[in-house]
Order: sequence, then structure tokens, then C-alpha cells
Amino acid sequence: MKITKAVIPVAGLGTRFLPASKAIPKEMLTIVDRPTIQYIVEEVVASGIDEIILITSQGKSAIENHFDYNFELETVLKSKKKDNLCEEICNISNLIDIVSVRQKKPLGLGHAIWSARNVVGNNPFVVLLGDDLVQSETPCTQQMLNLFNELQESIVAVQRVPMDQTSQYGIVEGEQLRERVIKVNRLIEKPPAGATQSDMAIIGRYILQPEIFDLLENAKPGHGGEIQLTDALLALSKKRPLYAYEFEGTRFDAGDKLGYLKAIIAFALRHPTLNKEFRKHIKEVAADL
Ligand code: G1P
Repeated sequence: MKITKAVIPVAGLGTRFLPASKAIPKEMLTIVDRPTIQYIVEEVVASGIDEIILITSQGKSAIENHFDYNFELETVLKSKKKDNLCEEICNISNLIDIVSVRQKKPLGLGHAIWSARNVVGNNPFVVLLGDDLVQSETPCTQQMLNLFNELQESIVAVQRVPMDQTSQYGIVEGEQLRERVIKVNRLIEKPPAGATQSDMAIIGRYILQPEIFDLLENAKPGHGGEIQLTDALLALSKKRPLYAYEFEGTRFDAGDKLGYLKAIIAFALRHPTLNKEFRKHIKEVAADL
């Protein structure tokens, strides 16, 4: 079955990024020359998905506007003969169809995903978390779709993290089936020290079977008093196979101040026009350290 829909939750308050995220959504903070959310949308588009469902909340309309057509801006750019810029701006609104669904209460990631149930319908779908940027040859979502084509079951993307950081993630335990593919036996959201021996952390890319919606509907509040996607995934893994996939690429936590800075440097070093000058600058700065 071909997956055509991607859900991107953007309803969170972005408290880790205050004060920058006080009046603008954290997803609109810039990495080099585009907001972080644009990298996520571009990954979806590059992976052949047709439609995005944004799960939004109050104060997030800048995200919708960014991917919308801006007649006034286009007219001004055209009149000033800035055709290249005009085309670039138009291309953003032509990227993909986006629909928005409001998450009516801030009850957690699981609840945000559940809010998409009517738009997703009875089909498997992709979830991308806006904080997690992945730099890779093949888009992370495409890598997961390739695996889904073979397995036809839910998949979570994982990466190994230092043991003293496991309490910041959903952690997966399971058996290695082959290189990069793990059959999941257990999942724990943000385990306290000593609660797991596994260093396999979920990062923000999922392929989910629609059964997840019923499980989310009946889920009890978990870690932090929120409806956790990880808890619903544990329930799903008891009903049908769930896999973890060690993706190829580098992941940045762009929702964290240090992770955001690292992302800026990594993406600037690969930027088609800025990379040379920027590399030179970084070398000069490093020499002075
Ligand atoms: C969420 C998930 C967690 C996952 C993480 C990846 O947590 O609940 O399982 O490991 O994203 O970024 P959050 O970082 O939103 O608290």
C-alpha cells in the first residue's frame, strides 16, 4: 500500500526555545535561509508524499502563511524584476497540499497525532516531528518508506545515544533482525536512570498503521501527565509487529539551543552558494580558539 499522507505536529509551545519562541513559532526559526519547518516539508516532498496534515494550535498561523501563496509579495517582487526570488517564493507554496487540524487541548504528542484521525482515515501514514532535522543522502522518510514497502508494518526511526541521555527520549528494546532493523519488544518514554539497558532512542520519524488511533483514544496519561505516542506504540507492538530502523544520516535536535546551533553549522557547510565562504570563516574562527 502506498503511503500518501504525512502528519507534522506543530502545536507545542516551544518552551525550550524561549525567549526566541515567545511571539513566533519555534518551527519558524531560521536555519541558514529557511525556517526549520521548511526542511521537514522538503523531506516529505522529496520522499514522494502527496499531502501534509499540520497539527496546529493558536499562534501558529505563520507556518500556514509560509506555505501559502503571497500575492502582494509576488506582485512587488515582479515589479522590481526580482524574478528569481519571486520564483523561489512561489515554489514554497507549490511544494505540496497542506491541511491544518487544531489540537484542541495541549494533552501531549499522542493526543496531537490522534487529532489527525479523521483526515488520515484508515491508511498507514508518516509522522515527522519538527524538532528533528536529519541530514542524509536519501531523505530519512524515504529510507523508512523503502523499509515499509517490504515489511508493511509500523516503524520508528532510532539512533543510539549515550546512556546518560536516554531519559530524554522514548527508548526501544528489541532484537536485531539484520543491519539497521530491530523487532521491537518494549518501549519506554523517557526512562529514569537504570530503567533500561537499551541506548536505542526514538527520533521524530514514524510510519504508523491506523490502528494507532484507537490505541491513542484509549491511552491513559503517561510520562509528564501527557498522552504519549510511545505508550500507544507499546500497545500496538503487542498486537502486531513493530520495527525500529537505524536510519542513515545525522540528526539534529533543532528544538534545543545547542542542537539548533549545530544544525545551522551543518546545513551552512552544505549550502550550495554559502558553503565555501562559510567553511573559510569557520576555519578562521577555529584557528583562534
Ligand atoms: C518526543 C517523543 C520521544 C522521542 C522524541 C524525539 O519527545 O515523545 O519518544 O524520543 O520526541 O525527538 P519530545 O522531545 O517531544 O519530548
